Amino acid sequence: MDERAARDGQWWRDAVIYEIYPRSFADADGDGVGDLAGVRSRLGYLRDLGVDAIWFTPWYLSPMADGGYDVTDYRTIDPAFGTLAEAEELIRDALAVGIRTIVDVVPNHVSDQHPWFQAALAAAPGSPERARFWFRPGCGPGGGEMPTRWPSMFAGDTWTRTKNADGTPGEWYLHLFSTGQPDLDWSHPDVRREHEDVLRFWFDRGVAGVRIDSAALLVKDPALPEIPADPGPGEHPNTDRDELHDIYRGWREIADSYPADEDPGRRILVGEIWLPDVERFVRYLRPDELHTAFNFDFLARPWDAAQLRESIDATLAAHAPVGAPATWVLSNHDVTRPVTRYGRAESGFSFAAKRAGTPTDPELGVRRARAAALLSAALPGSLYIYQGDELGLPEFEQLDDELRQDPMYLRSGGRDPGREGCRVPLPWAGDRPPFGFSPPGTQATWLPQPAEWAALTVAAQEADPGSMLALYRAALRIRRDEPGLGDGPMEWLSSADGVLAFRRGPSFTCVVNLSPGPVTLPGHTAVLLSSAPLPNGELPTDTAAWLRNERE
Ligand code: GLC
Repeated sequence: MDERAARDGQWWRDAVIYEIYPRSFADADGDGVGDLAGVRSRLGYLRDLGVDAIWFTPWYLSPMADGGYDVTDYRTIDPAFGTLAEAEELIRDALAVGIRTIVDVVPNHVSDQHPWFQAALAAAPGSPERARFWFRPGCGPGGGEMPTRWPSMFAGDTWTRTKNADGTPGEWYLHLFSTGQPDLDWSHPDVRREHEDVLRFWFDRGVAGVRIDSAALLVKDPALPEIPADPGPGEHPNTDRDELHDIYRGWREIADSYPADEDPGRRILVGEIWLPDVERFVRYLRPDELHTAFNFDFLARPWDAAQLRESIDATLAAHAPVGAPATWVLSNHDVTRPVTRYGRAESGFSFAAKRAGTPTDPELGVRRARAAALLSAALPGSLYIYQGDELGLPEFEQLDDELRQDPMYLRSGGRDPGREGCRVPLPWAGDRPPFGFSPPGTQATWLPQPAEWAALTVAAQEADPGSMLALYRAALRIRRDEPGLGDGPMEWLSSADGVLAFRRGPSFTCVVNLSPGPVTLPGHTAVLLSSAPLPNGELPTDTAAWLRNERE
C-alpha cells in the first residue's frame, strides 16, 4: 500500500485502479469468453503493472442484454464467468498480492429476467409486485401512448408496453436504458433494503469497494413530468434529484461499519456520475456520501492545453471544499479508446457525436495517448486505467455489423456504432488470434481480434522497452515511489502557450507539450520518464516528461 495514504488508511485517495471487463480479459476454459479463472491466472501481470485495485464490471448472473449491466441475481456469478467460490478465491488471491477488489452495483435497474420483474409482469396492475418498478397506464386513447416522452440513454423509447394475462395491451414500464433493463422505484423500501443487503454481501466477502452504476439516475419525480427545456439544479425528473443523497448516506454508513484496520481496509463507494455541473457533481462526495466519482469532464475534453487545464482547475477547485480526492480517467468500457480518439481532428468525447468512419491518425493518437498517460498519472488523486489502454489498443472499428450486440448500436438503428470496439478480447501473446486470450484450439473469441494486434500483445510489448506497456509500468513504479505524486497539492509553473507544466512536491515536475513545435524543458536535474525521446534536450510536440528538479 502507498505510504502517504496508508498512514491514515485512506487508500482510495491515490490508488491506481484497473478496470476489468471480465468477458474480454482472459479466457481459461476455452469458450472464447473471458472468465474469473482467466483473471486469477493473470494476477501476476496486474501486480507487475503496479495497480492497487481492480474494478470488475458486472460479473453476476445476467442475460447480457447490456454486457451484464442487466443483473438477474447479485449473489450468483454468471456461469460464463465462473462461480461464487471462484470469485471469493479471486478476491483473496488478489489481496495476497496487494490488489483490492471493487465490484459493480447497478441500482437504477435490473434485468427483465430478475425474479422481481418476472413477478411484476405476472401480477396485476396496482399489485405490490409492480410497485417496485415504474408501471403506468399509457396516455391517449386506449392508453396507446407512452406515459412520458423521456429520451433513453440508449436512443429509442424509455417505455415498453406489457400484455395483460388475456393478451390485451396492458400497462407500460419505464426503462431509461434498454427494454431488458426495467428501472426500479427507489421510493419502495424493498428496493433500498435489497441493495443495502447486496453491499453487505460483497463487503462480507472482502470486497474493498463498489462502483455505483448510473449513480445519478435512481430517483425519479413520482409525478413523471416531461423534462423542462432548461431544468434548474435538482429539477430534472430523472437525473441528479436531491433525494439521492439520503440513499448514499445510508450506503456510507454501511461502508463505514466495516473495520478500517483489517484487510481489505476501508470499504469505499465510487460513483458513476455524468453531470456537466461540477458543483452538483461534488455534492455526492461530501464527507458522509461517496468517497470518489469518475471525472468524466477530463475524459471528454479534446487534446488541447487550455481545455485540459480548465478541466483540471475546475475539478480540483470543486473537490477541495468537500475534501474528496479527484479521479483521472482516460477511458472505460463505454467510450472510444484514447489512441483512436486523440488521433482525430475532433479529439473530445461525447456519446452524441459518436459515429462510425470518423478518420483518425493512429500514430498521432498513440503519441498523444502516451503523453496523456503521464499527464493523468501525475495529477493529484486516484487514477483509473481501462484494460488494454496500457497496451495502447485502438478502437476496433472494422467489426462486422452482425457481431454488434450493444443496445447503443441496435437501438440507434446503427447510427451509433456501439461500444464493442473498446471491448475486444485482450491480446496476450503469439502471432495470431486468439493471441493467448483463450487456450490453444479455441474456436473463436466472442468478439474477433484484429490480426494486426500481433504487434500489441503483452508478450511483444514486454520485449520492447519503447512500448506502451513499458511506459505504463515505469510510470506506475515512479508514481508509487515518488512522495509528491498521488494525493496532495499541485502547483502550475509558468509555461508557453499550449504547454502544461506543474510541480508535485518539492522535487517533481510534469510537463506536457500540446503546442505545434518543440519547447525547451524547464530546469531539471534528471529526466525520470518521457513519453517519447527528447532530442536536443527539448520536449517535442505531443510529448510529456517527468522531471526531477532541485528541491526548493
Ligand atoms: C453505465 C455502464 C454502461 C451501461 C449503463 C447501463 O453507464 O457503464 O456500460 O450500459 O450504465 O447500466
